[in-house]
Amino acid sequence: MTNSAPPASTLFRAGAEFELGFHDLLANGQAVGRSSGMVIFCFGPLPGETARVRITAVKPKYAVVEMLQLVVRAVDRAEPFCPVFGQCGGCQLQHLTYAAQLHWKRTLVRNALQRIGDLGDVLVREPIGMSAPRHYRNKMSLVVKHEGAQTRFGFYRQRSHDVVPIQGCPVVLPALDRIIASLDRARQDERFRPILSRARHVVARSSHAGDQAVVTVTTSVAEKAVADSGQALMGALPGVTGITNSYDISGANVILGRRHLAVGGRAYIEEEIQGVRYRVSPASFFQVNTAIVSRIMRFMQPGLRRPHQIVDLYCGTGTFALFFAKMGSQVYGIEESAAAIREAGENAQLNGLGDRVRFHRGSVEHAVSTPVGRSALQDAHIAFLDPPRKGSDPRTLDALANAGVPHVWYLSCDPATLARDLKFLAAKGYRLGVVQPFDMFPHTGHVETLVTLYRERPGDETLEIGPSSN
Ligand SMILES: C[S@@+](CC[C@H](N)C(=O)[O-])C[C@H]1O[C@@H](n2cnc3c(N)ncnc32)[C@H](O)[C@@H]1O
Repeated sequence: MTNSAPPASTLFRAGAEFELGFHDLLANGQAVGRSSGMVIFCFGPLPGETARVRITAVKPKYAVVEMLQLVVRAVDRAEPFCPVFGQCGGCQLQHLTYAAQLHWKRTLVRNALQRIGDLGDVLVREPIGMSAPRHYRNKMSLVVKHEGAQTRFGFYRQRSHDVVPIQGCPVVLPALDRIIASLDRARQDERFRPILSRARHVVARSSHAGDQAVVTVTTSVAEKAVADSGQALMGALPGVTGITNSYDISGANVILGRRHLAVGGRAYIEEEIQGVRYRVSPASFFQVNTAIVSRIMRFMQPGLRRPHQIVDLYCGTGTFALFFAKMGSQVYGIEESAAAIREAGENAQLNGLGDRVRFHRGSVEHAVSTPVGRSALQDAHIAFLDPPRKGSDPRTLDALANAGVPHVWYLSCDPATLARDLKFLAAKGYRLGVVQPFDMFPHTGHVETLVTLYRERPGDETLEIGPSSN
């Protein structure tokens, strides 16, 4: 790494150009360098690379630069496979080989556990990734851009509401990629002008096998045009098995509305993971990478050979709760979304697992302090948590610890909040078992991590999961 920076006084003004070496990579894809005491952020370079850059913004403690030319190239640089990589906000790491992405994600998790979690020299396993890490996402949200009478489809630019028009997407499932192409034809068809001119987003979700796909047109209010021509639009989108209209949108940054109307075909898809069938409607949360969810389930399987009492906190539509039940365990799931809880119950019936699961609608932090919640925790052998990005909270974690739940399995999509919560549980006497990252979102800065914790008490049964224990 070489820095050929001029003195600080001339360097840190917009437009200044110089060569800079980079040593780190952030989850949003920005490389980090340092010059004259300033931290410098730049999209494009990788750690170990040197680039000629130009300053675009100067702040009191950092500067932002754009890459003009790569001067020294890293060995793990890859050729991005998408023509809009670097513009579209969807992927951040296509310029890094897949093996290096996995390695980087492991470091990301380890650094968070050490720096935020204060967990010392933690053994973080190599992430479990995909053998073919493309065409994996089962859901996409296209932004509809209106330019006069023209309609274009695209994705948001990184940290912006600008739209990058797209012709296809190499990370969504092939069935969704085909829908992008069909929509591109449909936008030029006069018949669909009324429906598309009112659309804000087109959200599509497909089954992994690609035999079912539901397209949701989002509009500010219920639109007659969508109801009237939904069926015809479905005919113009080969492979689409249902069309819905989502409306009553509550804010500028919200994609789906509070209300949904089926306007053609079947308003849900059915998915099967590890022998469990899931009926998923457009409004429900469902994990985006079915193949990796299946890997996570297989990873947990050795610990589920014997039936247990399991509490599933933040259970959503019951993705994991129903898998635990299928394996023979009794599960008590808690989730705040009424729609998700309703679907979890329906999916339990669909799988004939109604007698092994109970679902409670409410906030986890409140539910765990009620007599029913406390007693479920006291009886539980395993507490499984899969909270949103902001993680869990002290009331919930305290309740777990006070109930003395022997095993905690924590699945997280954010290493920072995971580390914070693990620190809390460690202070309450839990010991760390396995730390296993999974690459749920290849080519992005996101990583999913499964951590097991246990209380060391004489006579307690050990519960090992994964191919071999740490
Ligand atoms: C990452 S998702 C996990 C869902 C589920 N485990 C699955 O795999 O489908 C997190 C879930 O937590 C729910 N949630 C968020 N905050 C909550 C809270 N305070 N109490 C209960 N549920 C909450 C969300 O509605 C969402 O369904």
